Amino acid sequence: MTHSPFAHYHEPLCTLPIGSARGLRFISNNAHGIHPMPHTSVRIWDLPTRLFHWTLAACVVALVVTAKLNAMDWHFRLGYCVLALLVFRVVWGLVGGYWSRFKSFLFTPGQFARHLAGKEDHSAGHSPLGALSVFALLLALILQVTTGLMSDDEISVSGPLARHVSGELVSTATWWHARIGQYLLYVLVGLHVLAILVYAVRGKKLVGPMITGDKQLPSATPSSRDSAGTRVAALVLLAAAGAFAWWVSTLGSF
Ligand code: HEM
Ligand code: HEM
Repeated sequence: MTHSPFAHYHEPLCTLPIGSARGLRFISNNAHGIHPMPHTSVRIWDLPTRLFHWTLAACVVALVVTAKLNAMDWHFRLGYCVLALLVFRVVWGLVGGYWSRFKSFLFTPGQFARHLAGKEDHSAGHSPLGALSVFALLLALILQVTTGLMSDDEISVSGPLARHVSGELVSTATWWHARIGQYLLYVLVGLHVLAILVYAVRGKKLVGPMITGDKQLPSATPSSRDSAGTRVAALVLLAAAGAFAWWVSTLGSF
C-alpha cells in the first residue's frame, strides 16, 4: 500500500515536529517516519497585522516619552491612537488573516507542555509561549489605556472618563496607570524583545516575517489571506475604531 507523504497531515501542519538534516528540511511523523516536505514562502502576518504591530510599538514608546516630558496633549492624542489600534486588533483577532486570529494561538495546556518539552513545534504563527506574551501585552495595554482615560493628575490633566466615574475609581485608575501599569509594560515589552533576541541567537528569525509577512514553511501550511479586499476591510475597520476613539475623547468635554 502506498501512502502519499502528505495524506496524514491535518491542519495546522506546523504543530508537527520540524527538523532539518544536511540542508534538507523534513517534517517527521511517528507513524510514518520522515518525509521530505518542500518549503515555500507562506504569508503568515497579513499587512494590517504588521502595520498594527509597528505602529503600536512606536506609539507605546512615544507615550512613555511624552508622559516623561509632560507633553500631555501628545500623550492623550497617542493614547487615543493606541485605543483605536487595540479595538482594531481585538476585532481583527476574530475576522483577520488565519494566523492573526486568536483561535490560531489559543493553546491547550497539553499543547503547552508538549511545546515546552520540545515535542511540538509551532513555527508558523505565535508559539504557545509567544501567544502568552501577546495576550499579556494586549491585556496590559488595554488596562493602561482604560486607566489612562480615567486618570487625573490633580494638577492640570484628566482623562475624558474621569468626570464620569467615582472619585475612588479615579484614584485607583491613576495609581494603576502611573505606579503599576507603566512598569508592568516595561517588564512585558522587555521580555518580549528579549525573547525575540534569544530566538534570533538560536537561529529563529522572527522579526523578518513581522516586516515582510512571510515565513519559509512546508507548502501545505495554511496561509493568511492578505488580498486587496482584506486590506480594504481592515482600513474600514480601522476607520470605525478611530471614530470610536475620537468619540471617547469627546466625553471629557461634557
Ligand atoms: C513597545 C514595543 C512593543 C510592543 C507593545 C509590541 C507588541 C507586540 C504584540 C501585541 C505582538 C502580537 C502581534 C499580533 O499578533 O498582533 C507582537 C509580536 C511581535 N513583535 Fe512586538 N512589540 C513591541 C516591540 C517590538 C520590537 C522592538 C520588536 C523587534 C525587535 C518586536 C518584534 C515582534 C515580533 C517578531 C513579533 C511576532 C512574534 C511571533 O512570531 O510570535 N516587537 N509584538
Ligand atoms: C498604552 C497607553 C499608555 C501608556 C503606555 C501611558 C503611559 C503613561 C506614563 C508612563 C505616565 C507617567 C506616569 C508617571 O511616571 O508619573 C502616564 C501618565 C498619565 N497618562 Fe498615560 N499612558 C497611556 C495611555 C493614556 C491615555 C489613553 C490617557 C488618557 C486619554 C492617559 C492619561 C494619562 C494621565 C492623565 C497621566 C498623568 C497621571 C499622573 O501623573 O497622575 N494615558 N501615562
